[in-house]
Amino acid sequence: MRVLVVGSGAREHALCWSLAASPLVKTVRCAPGNAGIARDAEVVPIAAEAIDELVGYARAERVDLVVVGPERPLVLGLVDRLVEVGVRAVGPSAAAARLEGSKAFAKALCARYGIPTAAFRVFEASQQAAARAFIEEHGAPIVVKADGLAAGKGVTVAGTVEEAVAALEAAFGGAFGEAGARVVIEEFLEGEEASLFALCDGRDALVIGTAQDHKRAFDGDRGPNTGGMGACSPAPPLTPAMVERVMAEIVRPTLAAMAAEGTPFRGILYAGLMLGAAGPKLVEFNVRMGDPECQVVLPRLMTDLGQLLLGAADGMLGRMSARLYPTHALGVVLATRGYPGPVERGSELRGLEAAEATEGVLLFHAATRREGGRWLADGGRVLTVVGTGASLAEARQRAYAAVDRIDWPQGYCRRDIGARTLAAASEPMASG
Ligand code: AMP
Ligand code: GLY
Repeated sequence: MRVLVVGSGAREHALCWSLAASPLVKTVRCAPGNAGIARDAEVVPIAAEAIDELVGYARAERVDLVVVGPERPLVLGLVDRLVEVGVRAVGPSAAAARLEGSKAFAKALCARYGIPTAAFRVFEASQQAAARAFIEEHGAPIVVKADGLAAGKGVTVAGTVEEAVAALEAAFGGAFGEAGARVVIEEFLEGEEASLFALCDGRDALVIGTAQDHKRAFDGDRGPNTGGMGACSPAPPLTPAMVERVMAEIVRPTLAAMAAEGTPFRGILYAGLMLGAAGPKLVEFNVRMGDPECQVVLPRLMTDLGQLLLGAADGMLGRMSARLYPTHALGVVLATRGYPGPVERGSELRGLEAAEATEGVLLFHAATRREGGRWLADGGRVLTVVGTGASLAEARQRAYAAVDRIDWPQGYCRRDIGARTLAAASEPMASG
């Protein structure tokens, strides 16, 4: 089949890489892709949010399956439009993408169907005084979230009432645009954070992996929040028994709820979880793979991704299973200095070939450009270097060995990806 992947990050590079290895896949194209992706797929110069153009292209080129990487085209209804013109696509409809597009929607669904999550209240901009009173009455720690998509910047875990009120004022003051016109205020959850990725076909779901992200820019979980600076898979707290609980208490009830509401969920459900004394609780849903989590989940997937995605698009997952390799993968994100703030483009990365030649290592490009045989940085997050191995320690050693072969003074990465996980447990058995 002919596959089109939509997006341009390291997540989409991993998707293209995995699909290119599928015996069912004849060609992989990526819109808009990047210079690194161009080595594994044919890149098509259409932006990920140019919905009309993408639909026209997929139809004209008789694409058999469209796989959507980022959330925005999903929220904008790309999958609805593709399905309307008879193109198969993996990803939720705009209505189902509200699980990520509106935190208030996701929380209300949880409340209606008894899905475990932090206690919460939703406030509109007109209710600012009531929201403030609620924060003061509840006290800190407390969590303030802009309702809509805010590129990972809309959440404040406030240690003090003042901080929470400032976050509230920022959201209602327009810091996140429309996304902050409504705010969710919720209980602070304690526990271990981990994420589970379930491929869904509207009725059934298969676990394709688990991971732990590192959201802060700097070592020791300091600095500003980013899209993610590194990840490891599997997530040790998600033992086989815990994965089964999450499926039984959160993922399957959500699928049943979405179907009952007339908006069945098809695509990848990313369940961000807090595992505490009271059992697993949902922190947030995303309606797509994570980035950088995708880069560590897919190398561990034994079952053919092409077959799984086709099964999801066609509602066949009930008759399928997803098998994973009993390995570990650890990904380190290399970013241009200044990220997550504004960055300069065009600095040269040397040594990528040597890095890629490291045993058990994969390089996924997020923002690179090729010029006269040189690799140039072309954005904030530039590469994910993934090490795989029989243990987390081995995966980590390989990833950093490859990182150390890259000569890029204008870039930076965290040196402690996976370190806390390694220290916390002497590698207990995990699945997923
Ligand atoms: P989100 O964008 O909803 O994933 O939130 C970003 C991060 O904020 C999460 O990954 C958690 O680390 C943290 N967070 C969100 N909600 C809560 C909560 N209710 N309690 C504690 N931490 C939270
Ligand atoms: N790494 C977090 C995300 O993709 O949402």
